[in-house]
Amino acid sequence: MIKSVLSIILISAITVTATGQDGKEIFQTNCAACHSVGKGKLVGPDLLGVNNKYSEEWLIKWTKSSQSVINSGDAAAVAIFKEFNNIPMTEFPLLSDNEIKSIFQYIQTESDKKTAAATASVAQKITEKNSSVNNNDFINKYLGISVIGVFFLSILWVLLRVNNTLTKTLKEEFVKNKSLTEQLKFHNQTK
Ligand code: HEC
Repeated sequence: MIKSVLSIILISAITVTATGQDGKEIFQTNCAACHSVGKGKLVGPDLLGVNNKYSEEWLIKWTKSSQSVINSGDAAAVAIFKEFNNIPMTEFPLLSDNEIKSIFQYIQTESDKKTAAATASVAQKITEKNSSVNNNDFINKYLGISVIGVFFLSILWVLLRVNNTLTKTLKEEFVKNKSLTEQLKFHNQTK
């Protein structure tokens, strides 16, 4: 009695580990030779986002026997088969539904990661672009301020020059006038 209970526990434990087997591992052993997730075509199509393209039921049927799905006249199956030059995909009739589900769960997780990374990098590029635009604005402002500054400084310089010349001329005139008055005085005295 105890023996049979123990063996039942043991068997169910083995089954759990078998079905709970990492989708990543099953993918790498059975699919990675022909498929990538987000790294482009290999022998077969890139499986990035494939969960959005088909139902889970379709994916299970396809993985077990892609040829029977194609032969049933399924339009999407026929199209992808043609696109890949009628190369038949390996059939996996021995994989259980749960194992196939865990493969596509892994593909979903990887796709989500890739999409998130892509969105993040686009967001970062936009931020970088914005900050470089801000930098340009900054430079433009500085350039504007400096141009205006140089302009006013030159006007100031010209004004100072004019002022100097005028003072000089005035002084000269003053000296001239003074000597004239003195000459006149002298003239009057001697008269
Ligand atoms: C020997 C190469 C090969 C292996 C191994 C392989 N595939 Fe494929 N797979 C293909 C090819 C080629 C296609 C394109 C359709 C066709 O030609 O039948 C494809 C198509 C697919 C598609 C449809 C993709 C789409 O965008 O329409 C899915 C889903 C798929 N494979 C899943 C799997 C899974 C899951 C495994 C592993 C359990 C696997 N494949 C193993 C070659 C392979």
